[in-house]
Amino acid sequence: MKRIFMDNASTTKVDPEVLNTMLPYFTEFYGNPSSIHAFGRDARKAVDTARVNVADLIGAKDDEIIFTAGGTESDNLAIKGISFLNKDKRATKGPHIITSVIEHPGVLETCRHLETQGFKVKYLPVDTDGIINLTDLQKSLSKNTFLITIMSANNEIGTIQPIEEIGKIAHEEISFFIPMQSKQSQNFL
Ligand SMILES: Cc1ncc(COP(=O)(O)O)c(C=O)c1O
Repeated sequence: MKRIFMDNASTTKVDPEVLNTMLPYFTEFYGNPSSIHAFGRDARKAVDTARVNVADLIGAKDDEIIFTAGGTESDNLAIKGISFLNKDKRATKGPHIITSVIEHPGVLETCRHLETQGFKVKYLPVDTDGIINLTDLQKSLSKNTFLITIMSANNEIGTIQPIEEIGKIAHEEISFFIPMQSKQSQNFL
């Protein structure tokens, strides 16, 4: 019997172009990019090129790209990083962070942990199709909201959130201080 894999929202096979590009780094250039010897330097060159390519893809600067070991680590780094940059907001009325009830545990558990640290989190419900309501999102914002963390595509049910509209709301409503980039308030998603 031919089996068909229908769970591509949870994981999917590697695109052949990605596999071919990566193969030399498993077999030939497998140095640790932090090592100072030639093997390490070759690997470092490849990581630096990848960093520039990723930055170009999303219109970022290469020093804004941080590679991590996976999703949960990325969630923690991004959410806790922004939260502790805004730690003074803990004394203010929330919500400080808005997320949804169907986020990955990497996001939900991080938000729950931040609640124990004094941050206030709003968990938006979803409709029967698993989509958040944008009016709910608008209504939930407070002047102290510094982060909206909503996944683009759900890892279990595959629903796609209206991410462009969410981004627009974030850019219009949220501003916070990024000390490393500028001395002024910046809009940030
Ligand atoms: C938002 C999010 N975070 C974390 C993960 C889990 O990733 P990892 O197993 O690399 O930690 C997933 C997986 O689908 C995810 O969608």
